[in-house]
Amino acid sequence: MTTTSKQDRVLIFDTTLRDGEQSPGATMTHEEKLEIAEMLDEMGVDIIEAGFPIASEGDFRAVSEIATRSKNSRICGLARANFADIDRCWEAIKHAEKSRIHTFIGTSELHRAIPNLTMDEMADKIHETVTHARNLCENVQWSPMDATRTEWDYLCRVVEIAIKAGATTINIPDTVGYTAPVESADLIRNLIETVPGADEVVFATHCHNDLGMATANSLAAVAGGARQIECTINGLGERAGNTALEEVVMALKVRNDIMPWTTDIDTTKLMAISRRVATVSGFPVQFNKAIVGKNAFAHESGIHQDGMLKNKETFEIMRPEDVGLSGTSLPLGKHSGRAALRDKLEHLGFDIGDNQLKDVFVRFKDLADRKKEVFDDDIIALVRTGGDTENDHLKLVTLRVACGTGGPAEATMVMSVDGENKTAICQGDGPVDAAFKAVREVHPNDAHLQLYQVHAVTEGTDAQATVSVRLEEDGNIATGQSADTDTVVASAKAYIHALNRLIVRRGKMGEGVDTREISYRDVT
Ligand code: KIV
Ligand code: ZN
Repeated sequence: MTTTSKQDRVLIFDTTLRDGEQSPGATMTHEEKLEIAEMLDEMGVDIIEAGFPIASEGDFRAVSEIATRSKNSRICGLARANFADIDRCWEAIKHAEKSRIHTFIGTSELHRAIPNLTMDEMADKIHETVTHARNLCENVQWSPMDATRTEWDYLCRVVEIAIKAGATTINIPDTVGYTAPVESADLIRNLIETVPGADEVVFATHCHNDLGMATANSLAAVAGGARQIECTINGLGERAGNTALEEVVMALKVRNDIMPWTTDIDTTKLMAISRRVATVSGFPVQFNKAIVGKNAFAHESGIHQDGMLKNKETFEIMRPEDVGLSGTSLPLGKHSGRAALRDKLEHLGFDIGDNQLKDVFVRFKDLADRKKEVFDDDIIALVRTGGDTENDHLKLVTLRVACGTGGPAEATMVMSVDGENKTAICQGDGPVDAAFKAVREVHPNDAHLQLYQVHAVTEGTDAQATVSVRLEEDGNIATGQSADTDTVVASAKAYIHALNRLIVRRGKMGEGVDTREISYRDVT
């Protein structure tokens, strides 16, 4: 048996619900946040950054509820460098079994200019705010935002101040994804060697992926002495995203011979949480994404398949089972029953309740009537895209489109609006354009189409298409998804799904909930 000392352990700090959710269009509902937090808690994440409590009532409620529900993980909330933020954060997390206040301020020259503080004024502010946080909570994390572009002497000075004021974790963010592995390792190593008191705290690394180096930079920081990696599921996050949790965890596991550090993550849960985050955030995982992409374990070329049949290790450095993928993929058909579907869903890592199973089963039967074999990816698409719910204001009732050469496409659509059927006949530049125009005729709106994306789920001309539609209206962003063997129907449903989410959001805005008007970048 091998034993690992405290020094060998790397803490995993997941910020999917804060930095990830902040990514435009990735907004999650309250229930979705609770569900993701529960999955993170169960898979062994050490610290969950659950949100930014002062940003909105919705964020506050989500962080508080996650704090009271969490069984294993430490629950962390984000706060800017002011007492109001820190107090609000403490209110949200104080009922957690283990809690943490994470307070930060931008320390580089560019970031100091935003609140217009001199170096000395900012140093005083850091001392006051970290002391205040520490008086409330015994576990305080402090971050100099844009650390990798902060002057070295000033960075050492402020890190020392934060440690003296009581910070227990010092996080070094590469906010704009600017650093590179050698520099990332040196920066942490030099800080630990230079700053008085550095050996009393945990150093963390927080990387963004603008140059595609977030995973490499995070692992290099660990080699330099960091013992906490900040990351998100699927690398979700602003711009090019954050370090992907699944990548750093599997890299440490597979290459433990040269990176002798361990995490407490149950890697067999990676696939399930990746799929769930993709669904609720509306950000699909790219097919060739490391670890959790659809093709990550697919070996299609003849040479690869031949090698794989003789010895799996020829082309496989980790087993699909290690990340929660089942080796087999037996398709279901129209005679498959509810028990077979439940069994398949469990195999695919979905833990769904009876009501959701009922809904997925109805849609599965409908699909199986139209498609000879229903593959794993079809089932995943059914669960990910969801069907109509009773509360939806808008529902597609019927859609017929005439298209082809020699004239514009024409869509005839019946849509139910709060239970009342309305019909529209519209022409457009192709069938999808005609269908979207029909939706707008029935439900006039000013939502701006930000993204329209179609993926074929499996091969063959009867393959389902999954469609994602992202809409923006008055600064609110909503993503809708749908799957159908008919691409135009999937498109119309995804559009309607996004509109339903915007309607809900509009309603909540009226109640003063989830205003999302404060960005963490507006540091005062
Ligand atoms: O990227 C960043 O600098 C952050 C901080 C709030 C830690 O997310
Ligand atoms: Zn960040």
